[in-house]
Amino acid sequence: GLKRKEVNVIVIGLDNSGKSTLLNYLRPVEAQTHDIVPTVGFNTENFRCKGLSFSAFDMSGQSRYRPLWENYYRKTHGIIFVVDSSDRPRIVVAKDELYQLLTHQDIRTRNIPILFFANKMDLRDSLSDVGVSSSLSLDEIENKSWHICSSNALTGDGVQEGIEWLSSAIK
Ligand code: GTP
Repeated sequence: GLKRKEVNVIVIGLDNSGKSTLLNYLRPVEAQTHDIVPTVGFNTENFRCKGLSFSAFDMSGQSRYRPLWENYYRKTHGIIFVVDSSDRPRIVVAKDELYQLLTHQDIRTRNIPILFFANKMDLRDSLSDVGVSSSLSLDEIENKSWHICSSNALTGDGVQEGIEWLSSAIK
């Protein structure tokens, strides 16, 4: 019969950017939770899109756990990088983490797609997707396809659009 293709993605970004909230939205309604707590280490979540069966590694964004991220780079088929668009003071920290990702030996030479969520678009002083894109200098990314979506992980606005792009890019 038809077997779904299984793919791994890592979900990274600074602490409090909304990674777990975003993945919670992708769960079946009956499995969604209302109390999301800061991630310790990492969690895994599974979801499906466009005939792909995803295992998502939801990495803690706290600085003491960020060194864990690289352990998952080698076997990942795609990257989801979540940014809190309202956290203007820390966008430079997000940019630095992104740079370390892009120059990592397990990522640098591979053409793996990166989906950016400019999350928390509902907050009053949040940057637009274009603003986040220029703050992170995304147009300087070489040899990788990338896409950025504004999102509200609480309502799911923008989330499905992003995941559909990633699915097409991985396929
Ligand atoms: P770590 O586990 O520490 O790495 O954090 P995380 O990136 O998984 O963030 P988490 O999903 O725990 O969300 C952090 C806080 O932001 C929570 O209080 C969420 O309710 C809130 N939040 C997440 N997404 C949004 C959003 O789109 N809009 C608003 N207003 N709040 C959001």
